[in-house]
Amino acid sequence: VFVEVAIPHMHMDRDIRLSGFASFVGSSSMEITLKIDQDNNGTWEHVLHALFVLAARDPRTKKSAKMNPLIGTSEKDIAIIKTGKLNRQRRLTEQDKSLFKIPPDTSESTIVHDLFLKTLTQNASIFRTRLLVENSMWMEETGLRTMYLCHPEQRNLYNKIFGGYLMRKSFELAWTAASLFAKQSLSTLAVDDIMFERPVEIGSLLFLTTRVVYVEGNKIQTRVNAEVVDIHTAERHTTNIFYFIFKTKDNKNPLQNVVPKTYAEAMMYLDGKRHLN
Ligand SMILES: CC(C)(COP(=O)(O)OP(=O)(O)OC[C@H]1O[C@@H](n2cnc3c(N)ncnc32)[C@H](O)[C@@H]1OP(=O)(O)O)[C@@H](O)C(=O)NCCC(=O)NCCS
Repeated sequence: VFVEVAIPHMHMDRDIRLSGFASFVGSSSMEITLKIDQDNNGTWEHVLHALFVLAARDPRTKKSAKMNPLIGTSEKDIAIIKTGKLNRQRRLTEQDKSLFKIPPDTSESTIVHDLFLKTLTQNASIFRTRLLVENSMWMEETGLRTMYLCHPEQRNLYNKIFGGYLMRKSFELAWTAASLFAKQSLSTLAVDDIMFERPVEIGSLLFLTTRVVYVEGNKIQTRVNAEVVDIHTAERHTTNIFYFIFKTKDNKNPLQNVVPKTYAEAMMYLDGKRHLN
């Protein structure tokens, strides 16, 4: 499952209407578009738009299962399917350009090097000594970590841990880290790409780690990594990656910057920048 959601400003005391439809079907995966409208004195205002990608699996072989094709008969439906196809293409392009696969481009490398230079002692000709520039925090110091024992109460229909539970726990950790970093209360702007890479089994030891990875204006990009740890071998496997974007409620207290110290943190910084932009 893969999720993208823009979080709107919603009123707690008004009715909401949920609707959804298949907007693209591939060979074994489908994109679902979900909309939420909210009542505003008798008229429905569109407040939320979310995309979910679901993959069909054969329960016996655990391999991908074929889906029925989606056919548009009206102009409107054909346009929806075309947008769904473009979304899929965009996701594939983003995956191909991932920093896990290829190096940053020239402008991104310049950004990282400029950040690095700012942390060196002027005229000292020493690469090793790093100084934190004013009004900023090392990325590692923004980090928070927690762990959960995955109890059967949180299972879904397929006897795995329910994705909504993982999203909630990750969101709460990211919100806490971002608020501590900003030293003020924040609003949620978007739940960006959420990847469910592997199912989380009941009984797993689940570790969640978050960091503030990028800051721009009044916006804070956080990244949460969820991993399960095998208690016998201490082997770790990433199960989910979550991106949450928060923003300050007003511009009274400007945000400090976040500064990467290591190469891995610099890649997280660029990854966060790509997601925010
Ligand atoms: C989703 C999952 C089955 C994909 O595994 P995979 O090895 O990449 O599977 P496949 O290569 O067979 O791809 C299956 C389909 O998913 C699509 N897909 C895979 N990764 C994707 C991604 N990151 N974004 C969009 N689509 C993706 C593929 O394009 C393919 O679609 P197609 O047949 O229409 O072309 C696997 O990552 C998984 O089990 N995740 C955990 C799901 C889960 O536990 N969810 C809990 C929340 S309910």
